[in-house]
Amino acid sequence: MTVTQTEAISDLPLLTDLVPLAEWSRDLCSASRTLLAGDHDLLRHPDGGVVAVRNATIRSLAEDPAVGNAPVSFLTGRSDDRLRRARETAEGSRCPVDAEPLRHFLRNQVFTMNPPEHTELRRALARPLMPRPVRSFVGLAEQVLDALLEELVAAGGEIDFGRDLAAVFATRFWTEQLGLPDGHAARIQHLMEEMNLQFRFNPAPDDSARARAATREYMALLESLVGRALEAGPNDLLDVLTAGARGSRLDDEPVDVRANVASNFFDAFHTVGVAITNAVHHLLASPEHLAALRRDPALAAQVFAEGTRISPPLMLTTRVTLADVRHGDLLLPAGTAVHMIWVAGNHDPDAFPDPERFDPSRPARSATTFGGGAHVCPGRNAARMLGEVVLHALTAPGLHVEQVGTPQWVEGSGIRHLDSFRVRISRPATSNDGDLA
Ligand code: HEM
Repeated sequence: MTVTQTEAISDLPLLTDLVPLAEWSRDLCSASRTLLAGDHDLLRHPDGGVVAVRNATIRSLAEDPAVGNAPVSFLTGRSDDRLRRARETAEGSRCPVDAEPLRHFLRNQVFTMNPPEHTELRRALARPLMPRPVRSFVGLAEQVLDALLEELVAAGGEIDFGRDLAAVFATRFWTEQLGLPDGHAARIQHLMEEMNLQFRFNPAPDDSARARAATREYMALLESLVGRALEAGPNDLLDVLTAGARGSRLDDEPVDVRANVASNFFDAFHTVGVAITNAVHHLLASPEHLAALRRDPALAAQVFAEGTRISPPLMLTTRVTLADVRHGDLLLPAGTAVHMIWVAGNHDPDAFPDPERFDPSRPARSATTFGGGAHVCPGRNAARMLGEVVLHALTAPGLHVEQVGTPQWVEGSGIRHLDSFRVRISRPATSNDGDLA
């Protein structure tokens, strides 16, 4: 009989012995590369729990039903700790922290749920976002984008691709697809920019205050808009979403379908624009693949997958073990935080040889951009479709898109996004070929 020895979390190497915490918080992508260059797989986090950095380990943990979502109390507690630390540093005093706006937002997110609530409410969200219903969104996406491109071309000059094109496109598309009253997309976009501050590892007190104020306003605005849209009459997406959520219970109370839609579409309004920007950024830096996409628009899906593999918008999330979990010889007791470093999974040379190379021809199967297992992102089909619509439009004949300057990645955030990505968009009168340079 073989006796296997149980390894404990305390036996794992400590993350901060391998990468200084300041570097980890400054640039998660580069810190992940440092860890992957060594022989590291699972590490011990200084705040407790484990950090998963190898692609195979991340995917196997993601697929384990006992590695569940982090509950609201875990996420608000962590956010409050960061805010308290920032305030102590800034003012030398302890201030009370208002967790309510964040708690309300997170409580309605499928992202913080586990069975039994997770099962029903995830299904309600995922059903209208399956590949077939998403195909029926393409016409509206193209229409919204065409109108926006005409506006940008008519205005002439330079734009910030992320802020002026990708984010405007995503917020306008989703407000229309959900049938929300007109005239609110720009405000939603502004709130997304403010809420993005919550992803900072070391927020200044002002960042946290702004993120929480924006979270409060976002939920109030969206709940009101969804309520008005439901009264105004039929909308395919909204009707399926609300019918799916209606009758479900959360913490023993009936689910508020307006809050449910508001919370769960945060990533639709926010993360999709970041993903499109990152994919276009990698494409513009690769004239060879740009030319290939112009010749063959069917490559758009691979370009989007590869651009978001190298620069996945959501670089990490935290899962929590719902029961004791064995990973090889390691025991992860119930309640262990499992930090899933999705960006590291995408840069693991064991899964993606020469991982820094932009190569849309490589298989995307093992990518961890959208997580995995029972919690894999339910919005992924819609995100991919919107990314492909943009890539098609930008490489279509007649449009000239030119990068201006060199964008930098924003440091100190769990979101991989560019500080500013300046491009010039025009429609030269004589051009028949399209010219994305
Ligand atoms: C390119 C854009 C997006 C990226 C990169 C992204 C990424 C992710 C990732 C990494 C996870 C964690 C999965 C896991 O733990 O295994 C996730 C979960 C989730 N995403 Fe997305 N997402 C995107 C767009 C969307 C959209 C458009 C929606 C909604 C319409 C959405 C809603 C959700 C929800 C509700 C969850 C939690 C799922 C669950 O726990 O079952 N996401 N996403």
